[in-house]
Amino acid sequence: MRWLRGILGLFVAGAVLWFLVVVFAGDGGGKAQPARAFTSSAQCKECHPQVYAEWEGSQHAISWTNPRVRALSNDFANQDCIDCHAPRPIFVTGIGNRVLPREARRVEGVDCITCHQLPEDEGGGMAGSTDDPRAACRPRAKLDLQRPDFCAGCHNQHKTVDQWRASEWPDRGEDCLSCHMPFRDGDPNKGRDHSCLGGNDMALLKRAVELRATGPRSVELSNVGAGHSFPTDERSRAADVFWRELVAGEPGPWTFLYRIRDPYRDEVDVPSTLLHAGETLKLDVEGAPEGAPIEVALFYKRSPHYADPDNPDPERDEAVLVHSVVLEP
Ligand code: HEC
Ligand code: HEC
Ligand code: HEC
Ligand code: HEC
Ligand code: HEC
Repeated sequence: MRWLRGILGLFVAGAVLWFLVVVFAGDGGGKAQPARAFTSSAQCKECHPQVYAEWEGSQHAISWTNPRVRALSNDFANQDCIDCHAPRPIFVTGIGNRVLPREARRVEGVDCITCHQLPEDEGGGMAGSTDDPRAACRPRAKLDLQRPDFCAGCHNQHKTVDQWRASEWPDRGEDCLSCHMPFRDGDPNKGRDHSCLGGNDMALLKRAVELRATGPRSVELSNVGAGHSFPTDERSRAADVFWRELVAGEPGPWTFLYRIRDPYRDEVDVPSTLLHAGETLKLDVEGAPEGAPIEVALFYKRSPHYADPDNPDPERDEAVLVHSVVLEP
């Protein structure tokens, strides 16, 4: 029976080894990594390639290099503009506080370290949703990252967070992350999409509002899907309604009807016409000829500076068509 004892012995040894691996390695064999101090977000790429790729394509990644920002800030000679476009870590200045500018790696803009780095004097590591003392970046469970207050330090300058609070979206359980950093494939185990899409994404723009025909010469526009006013944040954003005649299927030139926008502080004569969450705007098309069908369209543009305010034109103004309806006479 020596052979039987031999096999039993192998089983016992195997079980002991398995037990040791489970207890001391935790995740089935991975080695604890030495803790590292990070000086660049490029260092995160090695272990978090998918998050890195999404972020790299985001507006956050270009906040320092964005030509529009550079032009408007006079290449950051206007120092006030550095605060949010190359900020220190949020957890260092404190959630809800005004962010402060940093000196190092400005070119990385609003980067991994800005959002995740925890203060060194509180043990350092990266804010996440789990504690993992064995990973090189020492993630710690900090649910504060999910709070709209976390985005507010930079995104409430133009009241986006206040607009969300005043809407019905908080009661429906939809916050900034639900729409701008959704779970990948809708699966909470797959983590959050870091692309942070906004008005640069046609699918999101289409979801923001509905345009309906309500009569031969009238339309309604409702903010059904923006979690805040439409358009929100940057005051350079505008949504314009235009119409044109369709003669035998051939469209005529666009005629301007209405602009939805929040003015800059110095534009004292321009009223704020933002379409708040849940609101509906009714518009009548005046001056259209009798008897012919017309097309009414909503255009979105990122910078009204391109526009001659007295003579807007979607083509010259780099506007994108979001929705359109045809009104039969
Ligand atoms: C040497 C590999 C390595 C590097 C480099 C690294 N991490 Fe990690 N990170 C891990 C591992 C392993 C985990 C735990 C498993 C997981 O959640 O992916 C983790 C987890 C995290 C988590 C928590 C995930 C959760 O589910 O809550 C965050 C946040 C995080 N890392 C951010 C960063 C950031 C930001 C950087 C760069 C400054 C970085 N990591 C660099 C290996 C690394
Ligand atoms: C440290 C400041 C900061 C924080 C914190 C921050 N953002 Fe941003 N965000 C910016 C800046 C700056 C830009 C614009 C960069 C550019 O276009 O040059 C931006 C751009 C965006 C855009 C894209 C806008 C566009 O032009 O298409 C979205 C969406 C967005 N942020 C969502 C969020 C959400 C959601 C949070 C919270 C999880 C958040 N941001 C946290 C500074 C921040
Ligand atoms: C309090 C934080 C904060 C400060 C300070 C700040 N910005 Fe921004 N900036 C943002 C956020 C957040 C966005 C993204 C909002 C959006 O895209 O609608 C943004 C977006 C922009 C954009 C739009 C980029 C694009 O691609 O369309 C420009 C241009 C810009 N900022 C210029 C400036 C200038 C110039 C200054 C200084 C006068 C400045 N910002 C100061 C937070 C800030
Ligand atoms: C604008 C802020 C912001 C930036 C920039 C940012 N993150 Fe995140 N990150 C978040 C938020 C918010 C979550 C969700 C946290 C939660 O669920 O508790 C998150 C989650 C994560 C997670 C958890 C797993 C997953 O995939 O969602 C990892 C890992 C992570 N981030 C790494 C990074 C890395 C690496 C970078 C840079 C390439 C980065 N983050 C840039 C805000 C940010
Ligand atoms: C119900 C979904 C939803 C929720 C919740 C939501 N958003 Fe949005 N957001 C949108 C849509 C759709 C747009 C595009 C239309 C617009 O600009 O209003 C947008 C646009 C934006 C933009 C402007 C992007 C640009 O290109 O200028 C920023 C910044 C932004 N959201 C930040 C936030 C923040 C911060 C929160 C949390 C307080 C939030 N959003 C909550 C759907 C949502």
